[in-house]
Amino acid sequence: MLPIDADNLKLVKYPDPLLHTPCAQVTEFGPELEALARSMIGMMYKSRGVGLAGPQIGLGQMIFVANPDGQPSECEKAYINPVILEQDGQEVIEEGCLSLPGINCRVKRATLVRIRAQDVQGNTFEETGAGLLARIFQHEIDHLHGILLSDKMSPVARLANRRTLRELEERHEQATGKPSDE
Ligand code: CO
Repeated sequence: MLPIDADNLKLVKYPDPLLHTPCAQVTEFGPELEALARSMIGMMYKSRGVGLAGPQIGLGQMIFVANPDGQPSECEKAYINPVILEQDGQEVIEEGCLSLPGINCRVKRATLVRIRAQDVQGNTFEETGAGLLARIFQHEIDHLHGILLSDKMSPVARLANRRTLRELEERHEQATGKPSDE
């Protein structure tokens, strides 16, 4: 049994500590995981994202979904227990994150990334992503290790985004009654 309701996903936002908690390996594959992946893909489209990772729905397990097209197409896919095998190239591009609404910052990432992952049935596969897909792989795998876009910010970017970060922190404090540790 998954510890969350796949039919009723909620987006977890900065500075929720769940986003900074490294995920555990997925060990159970099959219909329940497949249904979850389908819900995550639906939520990704609804939120106008190109990727969504487990911690962003409050699930501390190594799963992310992605589609660089940003709308239903044959490119939509779930990646379970992904690891980066190889990476090459480098570029700095502005990036956003559904868990950090209103924040954009430039992040240096590899331009070519080869990963190994499992599908919802547990079958292992390898895939090479270039350009945007390579960036999505790195961003989502960061999520699975508890690393957020805000952790990648330069001091200048942090300063430029400080008001939005502060607003998100205040909203979190109001919702939970806890001060954030960010
Ligand atoms: Co993100």
